[in-house]
Amino acid sequence: MTTRRTFLKLVGGGVILAAAGATWVATRTPATARDPWLEAAEPPTGERASDVRRFALSYAILAPNPHNMQPWIADLSEPDAVRLYCDPARKLPETDPYDRQTVIGLGCFSELLAMAANAAGYSVDVIPFPEGEPQPRLDERPVARFVFRKDEDAAVDPLFRHVTDRRTNREAFDTARPVANESLERMLQSVRSSDAGFTNDEKRVADLREFSWSAMEVELYTPRVYQESVDVMRVGSREMDRNPDGIAVDGPMIELLAAAGLISHKDLADVSSITFEQGLPLIRVSFETAMAFAWMSTAGNTRRDQLAAGRDYIRLHLAATGEGLALQPFSQALQEYPEMAGHYAAIRKKLAIDDGATLQMFVRLGYGSSIEPSPRWPYDSRIEHA
Ligand SMILES: Cc1cc2nc3c(=O)[nH]c(=O)nc-3n(C[C@H](O)[C@H](O)[C@H](O)COP(=O)(O)O)c2cc1C
Repeated sequence: MTTRRTFLKLVGGGVILAAAGATWVATRTPATARDPWLEAAEPPTGERASDVRRFALSYAILAPNPHNMQPWIADLSEPDAVRLYCDPARKLPETDPYDRQTVIGLGCFSELLAMAANAAGYSVDVIPFPEGEPQPRLDERPVARFVFRKDEDAAVDPLFRHVTDRRTNREAFDTARPVANESLERMLQSVRSSDAGFTNDEKRVADLREFSWSAMEVELYTPRVYQESVDVMRVGSREMDRNPDGIAVDGPMIELLAAAGLISHKDLADVSSITFEQGLPLIRVSFETAMAFAWMSTAGNTRRDQLAAGRDYIRLHLAATGEGLALQPFSQALQEYPEMAGHYAAIRKKLAIDDGATLQMFVRLGYGSSIEPSPRWPYDSRIEHA
């Protein structure tokens, strides 16, 4: 465990900072974990050029998804088609007991796959859950089947150009820069089938900041739920390169601590440790600097509804990127485990969600600094039966 003394020694210019090469260690960044973003932006060569499915997959894997678990498996055994499966090992049973959020992530993947195919001159039929809807949890059946057809009339979606610039931004937003109604209204126009709303009203935003933080506290202090996140944290650039998924814990101080062996998953999980205590304000600042909120709900909550909500969510996020807005989901109060039940009911009331409707996404917005993209496994490592 990182004791207060070792931590202060480190911060105060002791052992590590004095060591030759410390600066280099502190500025270390992942060598390969972010390569898939660069690959997607490059003109296609090889199999990405000869097989439109691979071209489309190289974009689809850039989809936002819960805890960056990247739960997608693409089966290419059928010519001109992709069958999408959920990798059961990449589900999050504590924070997402009914796989609702996982399906939203797979919906984001589906929308990017179709957008990239359109950009390459193909249209795509998306057939959700072709072998039926698994309930109450996903099973081994496919999540979607995509059929590609050459189509000279396929139009490039204007949102497509933002795909490689999109980020989930967990940094502080600029509290001196309000978000204008017009920007938020244009952003919402990108949503196709979900009901969507926003607020930038100061009083309401202040209330939602506090409320969202209290939901975060429920997550952090419910040990089995928080442990699920700790288990998928990748601490420092070396770990991010080895496992380019999960929750990246990075930055100069983390690189130093990781190189010195002074930060561990055990410390991160221990809410009484200095590591945890020091990390808390870094999480809280994102709640305190939310400048607007937006949300999406669906009348039903079938698997098809969830997949469609995911397709809408990535559109909303790309539109926000186009507006120059930074975005981060706050999903804690939407999660379906018993300890969160009070917050789950309260947020529906605060946002006036209709009885019977399901709140699918809730995000904060504002203007943030530019950040690096999150890690990804290469697209071809997610392919089966090529
Ligand atoms: C359904 C869903 C829920 C999410 N919830 C949160 C959240 O509560 N907090 C957060 O910081 N990010 C959340 N995210 C964002 C993911 O963590 C993010 O997409 C992932 O780490 C990959 O990073 P990227 O979006 O920058 O590519 C969520 C994403 C999805 C699709």
